Amino acid sequence: MFLRQRKTRILMVAMLLILAVLAAACGQNNAQDGTQGAGGEATAPNTETPKAEAPANALDRIKASGQLRLGTSADYPPYEFHKIIDGKDTIIGFDIEIAKAIAADLGVELVITDMGFDGLLTALQSGNIDMVVAGMTPTEERAEAVDFSDVYYVAVQKVIVRAEDKAKYTTIESLAGKKVGAQLGAIQEGVVTDQMPQSELRALSKLPDLILDLKSGNVEALVVEEPVAKAYIAANPELVLADVPLEQDEAGSAVALPKGETALVEAVNATLKRLADEGKIDQFVTDATNAMENTAE
Ligand code: ARG
Repeated sequence: MFLRQRKTRILMVAMLLILAVLAAACGQNNAQDGTQGAGGEATAPNTETPKAEAPANALDRIKASGQLRLGTSADYPPYEFHKIIDGKDTIIGFDIEIAKAIAADLGVELVITDMGFDGLLTALQSGNIDMVVAGMTPTEERAEAVDFSDVYYVAVQKVIVRAEDKAKYTTIESLAGKKVGAQLGAIQEGVVTDQMPQSELRALSKLPDLILDLKSGNVEALVVEEPVAKAYIAANPELVLADVPLEQDEAGSAVALPKGETALVEAVNATLKRLADEGKIDQFVTDATNAMENTAE
């Protein structure tokens, strides 16, 4: 009897000891798991540097932050423009749909900053935004400062005049000595200076201000990308497309990204390709064109 009790006691102590050792081992494992988890999904187990290093490239930083910061100039229907939706000022357009798709493919939230077109590249270079989708043409000069995605949309340059002047301004020569407007920092500025050297360039940051200038007779004509020209004309019946022929050199739109961020460029191109293959870009353009009725004032 006595002997059995002692045996049982020894057995129980031994079992408790084993349990304690097991528990300790488990606890250690948990602690290790916790460190790895905090290091992010892609971090390899590394007990020497338990903290995650700052992501090395923009793509990883965007994913880690959960946000894709878009810079745009929302004066450009149907690309990007303001519309009151359910009483709220909202930025919509086919560029915005493309940006949303890029953010969705990266699994992050899209954050939009609206600014003057001429401030976009500086904002991108200084890291205040992650990408520009603003109907921006990938010119050689810009490509020295930033990287571009593939071209996702192509348009041509047009001249807008007041309807009453349509017969008066039919050639580049007819606008000699006259003021012609173009958006500040946009390639349309170059169209005026290169192709209309006899005209006087008036460059403003926001397109609606140029439209006002044209309506009030402050300028005689504007150079604007065709879909945008048509949008403003639809909202301003006193304006028309002029018959002034222009040479068309550069007209495509691409996404601008920080220089050297190859992984990000590839991710953006993958989304653009998917959208094009699925016919989504054409759909976005149609939807934006339908949505903009009378919003481009
Ligand atoms: N495509 C022209 C350029 O790259 C004009 C773009 C203007 N975009 C805008 N959102 N206002 O210069």
